[in-house]
Amino acid sequence: MAESNQYNIQWFPGHMAKAKREISQMVKLVDIVIELKDARIPYSSTNPMIDEIVGKKPRLILLNKSDMADRSITKAWIDYYKKKNIIALDIDSITGYNIKNIIPYAKIVLTDEFKKREAKGIKKTSIRAMILGIPNVGKSTLINKLAKRKAVNVGDKPGVTKTQSWIKISPELDLLDTPGILWPKFEDQMVGVKLAMAGSIKDDILDLEDLSVKSIDYLKENYPNNLKERYNLEDLSIDSHELLSVIAKKRGCILKGGIPDLERVEKLIMNELRDLKIGRMSYEKPEGRD
Ligand code: G4P
Repeated sequence: MAESNQYNIQWFPGHMAKAKREISQMVKLVDIVIELKDARIPYSSTNPMIDEIVGKKPRLILLNKSDMADRSITKAWIDYYKKKNIIALDIDSITGYNIKNIIPYAKIVLTDEFKKREAKGIKKTSIRAMILGIPNVGKSTLINKLAKRKAVNVGDKPGVTKTQSWIKISPELDLLDTPGILWPKFEDQMVGVKLAMAGSIKDDILDLEDLSVKSIDYLKENYPNNLKERYNLEDLSIDSHELLSVIAKKRGCILKGGIPDLERVEKLIMNELRDLKIGRMSYEKPEGRD
């Protein structure tokens, strides 16, 4: 679980350099890196150093929490990665959707590696893999799902235990039992906002009013009907600050004297957004990214 202000603390160059070093060591031990991203925010749920860390090691991207994302946008992201010659698969680590396809997809990624092994007369067809991703993206849920038991109980500390151990997922897959944890970088304010919208960081890192106004702005533009239906709104052309007051009244978030309880309504909206009460949504599209 993400602790409230760990992002601010952890993105110190010293911390990141250490995490990078440790994870780079882990990468050396595996055939493939399985990079977990949040399907709703594949860009913001990524550490900018990932390419450098993974280097030439084969990589499979898993877009987790796809149950919460907008199906058509997830598909667009998969196509986007395909154009970059990266294979991506949408999964849901809770229900297990597409989990059975992880090994077949990993094998596709490793086609060349298997050919090399064959040419050298090596019979080994098992795959050694590690999972890498930001806090809260679902690494431990996925590992436990793959292992069909509670195989890991991870905290948020990056790095490696002194002795690496492997979880045998199947005769074809051995997974490093310690996931690599890297923090996202708040290079622009919207990365933080999107992580908060997706529930990957707690509200108290950001200003709640600013967060809820930005969230409403996003919904107005991208999911106007969901917003209208959920809060019984007719006119979305008014300013998002004013919309907060309108929603507060409709939801009975009222202080003495009939003043809208803005803090209460802001929390309500953010909770409803994360609980999918406003609908399945994605907060980032691949368009315009290189
Ligand atoms: P981590 O190891 O990468 O830090 O993440 P972890 O597995 O702990 O998962 C973080 C939260 O995300 C958990 O919720 C977990 O149940 C949820 N989660 C993981 N994968 C999926 C998925 O595919 N779909 C959905 N809908 N949720 C997923 P939690 O323990 O309830 O935490 P929180 O909701 O209280 O933050």
